[in-house]
Amino acid sequence: MNTLLIDSIDVAAEFLKNGEVVAIPTETVYGLAANALDSEAVKKIFKAKGRPSDNPLIVHISDISEIHSLVSDFPQDAKKLANNFWPGPLTMIFHKSDVVPFITSGGLETVAIRFPESEIARNLIKKVQFPLAAPSANSSGSPSPTSHMHVLNDLNGKIPAILKGPNCSVGVESTVIDMTSDPVRLLRPGKISAKEISDVLNKPIIIDESVDHLVSDLNNVKSPGVKYKHYSPRTKVVLIKSSKDKFAEFVNSRECVAMGFSEDEKYIKSNFISYGSEFSQDEQLNLLFDSLRKIDNFNKDIAYIHIARKENLNLAVLNRLLRASGFCIYDL
Ligand code: TXA
Ligand code: MG
Repeated sequence: MNTLLIDSIDVAAEFLKNGEVVAIPTETVYGLAANALDSEAVKKIFKAKGRPSDNPLIVHISDISEIHSLVSDFPQDAKKLANNFWPGPLTMIFHKSDVVPFITSGGLETVAIRFPESEIARNLIKKVQFPLAAPSANSSGSPSPTSHMHVLNDLNGKIPAILKGPNCSVGVESTVIDMTSDPVRLLRPGKISAKEISDVLNKPIIIDESVDHLVSDLNNVKSPGVKYKHYSPRTKVVLIKSSKDKFAEFVNSRECVAMGFSEDEKYIKSNFISYGSEFSQDEQLNLLFDSLRKIDNFNKDIAYIHIARKENLNLAVLNRLLRASGFCIYDL
């Protein structure tokens, strides 16, 4: 299959209306989209990504009113969050209605809904007049794509088209919360933090154990995605919790790739990749996946990644790095 790089929303809409998949930009990461209500189209997403069929997809809408046909209830708390954070990088999980096929929900009775901020994504959904199922447009297991070139590297020849857009402004996937549990539960951290959510709801929310721990009981996870290896370069990755000095001393005495903060750079002799300032969590979110993708270019056996001290540590960054490293941390 020849993968076309396209600029036109109209052309992307034609592919989607014909039951095809198209990679599209959103503000978080690029998604691999298809008609969420068409089982045959959704099957093509799983095939192109090599994604396990029990890992459910997020359904994207272009207006809050579109949610009513997709869910069997839209609780008051969810309305509050929608009014505060939609459109934006927040995904909420609800009991699904019968129109959502089980292939989209990974066999679950629930469905994840997101109203993206990206105008390209919203205009495309408006044009096709159906909701779009879209997981991140990477090969299953590799870092999520934040530019159309990342998508091309992973899925060239496997999908008919990539709709080009700007690089993703957020850089990590949406925050996922389960509105069907009481109290509501954060399943995946993103730019919108647990604190922002609990401030709007005016009550505490639960942070699922899998967010920053290795889950041992794989049959009992709330979000099937956490079972699988994720975000990993081919190179082995180890996280380093240490001061700037110790990190520099450690990597300078080894044959390795060093990924760290821009403040680390002047202390590192070679093979350095920055993922932003230690003091800017937004910059770290924005650069994280691109930096992880660069690791393999060095052709080394191992990469060490410097992680921030507790007071500067962002939960979404930590969550992705823990998975990229297979939960391997050295505390120096
Ligand atoms: O920012 C994003 O959310 C991007 C863009 C493209 O919108 N999409 C994305 O999709 O990250 P994906 O498929 O890579 O991640 C969806 C996550 C997975 O961990 C999945 O297991 C979880 O959401 N999920 C989806 N539906 C669920 C459900 N009904 N119950 C529990 N977890 C669910
Ligand atoms: Mg993904």
